[in-house]
Amino acid sequence: MDLADLLSKDARVMRSSLIRQLTGLVNQPDVISFAAGSPNAKTFPHDRFRAIQNHLIEREGGQVFQYSVTRGNARLIGAVRERERELKGISVSSGETLLASGSQQGLDLVARVLLDPGDAVFVEAPSYIGAMAAFENFRAKLYAVNCDREGMDLDDLAARLAEARAEGRPCKFVYVIPNFQNPSGAVWSQARRQGLYEFARRERLLIFEDDAYGELYFADMDPNRLRPVKAIDDSGCAIYMSTFSKILAPGLRVAWIHGPEQILRRIECCKETADLCTSTLSQRIILEFLERGWMPAQAARVRRFYSAKSQRLQDGLEAHFGSFARWRRARGGLFQWLDLPEGIDALNLLHASLEEDKVAFIPGAPFFAEGGGANTLRLSFSNVKDENIEIGLSRLSRRIRRATT
Ligand SMILES: Cc1ncc(COP(=O)(O)O)c(C=O)c1O
Repeated sequence: MDLADLLSKDARVMRSSLIRQLTGLVNQPDVISFAAGSPNAKTFPHDRFRAIQNHLIEREGGQVFQYSVTRGNARLIGAVRERERELKGISVSSGETLLASGSQQGLDLVARVLLDPGDAVFVEAPSYIGAMAAFENFRAKLYAVNCDREGMDLDDLAARLAEARAEGRPCKFVYVIPNFQNPSGAVWSQARRQGLYEFARRERLLIFEDDAYGELYFADMDPNRLRPVKAIDDSGCAIYMSTFSKILAPGLRVAWIHGPEQILRRIECCKETADLCTSTLSQRIILEFLERGWMPAQAARVRRFYSAKSQRLQDGLEAHFGSFARWRRARGGLFQWLDLPEGIDALNLLHASLEEDKVAFIPGAPFFAEGGGANTLRLSFSNVKDENIEIGLSRLSRRIRRATT
């Protein structure tokens, strides 16, 4: 039976992201994969999780498997707020914080409470595919704004805003990832963050700041340069989101959103119908982890792990890509972005690279909301075995050089 006519209008336009389709293809055991963007399971402190979980069950029995409040465990919210104040200079009340089942749920919930079909959302070019898909599920119109070395080009943002307004669209928010962006790895300057904040306040736009990677900085990066826009927000125009996925483990599915109470109350209503609550057990494990004081050492360990992987990748890039590709060294996060010579289509390269060389990567084009970026690609270094990084890069560079001659 064909059920297409029974689908909602929203469901009819939903599609699976190209990356998800590619991930199936590229996660084969004999493939050296720079594609998988997930954190490395070696960084997950599973022994400590086991100890905490046993302790919680012994002490509280079945209670840790019970439903809990939609907003999130109050003690965990308190611990998150304290940590955010210390680490990032963000100061918010408890009514301005909500725990979500991963920041991916946060993206969906924010979209749900802010977007009607046809509304304008401004995103970086390139931007995170999972966010763009969440906004497009509510039939938002995405405007891809140019970026330069300091972050989003605010003149281009002004031009795109004027264009959207001339089209009669309600303009809702600017979605940005100022720290170690997925996919580009870029870090915004503090001046550009301030500029965006002033622009948004002047234009009555919300800023939706996704800081999934801000704590994954490498040795030569001063964390003061990573201060979020939310830290300067005294007018309530910024919604800020971060996650335990990258510094602890994504399977726990716990993230946090700081935003104006008026918006968070609506998000709470939507979350109630989405999942009632974030996993009680996950929240308790994380709270215990924080209260035992284990987080600073864990975060430092994760940073060291990715910093070393990234360094190996840099060595390989310098050895094999120096003559024909351009890149800015990742200084944190999980991704290295690469510009290939004009005229090369990374999507075309992928097929031969996978089939003949057994090397996978993610072509850059799908990260651009309005097209472009055919000659770009994203390399993720999180899950490639150390000994395979150089081999994979050598094969990939040979493939690209063959395509340019
Ligand atoms: C920029 C960005 N935001 C959000 C997410 C979702 O993370 P999670 O739902 O695990 O918190 C990701 C995952 O890759 C991401 O890269």
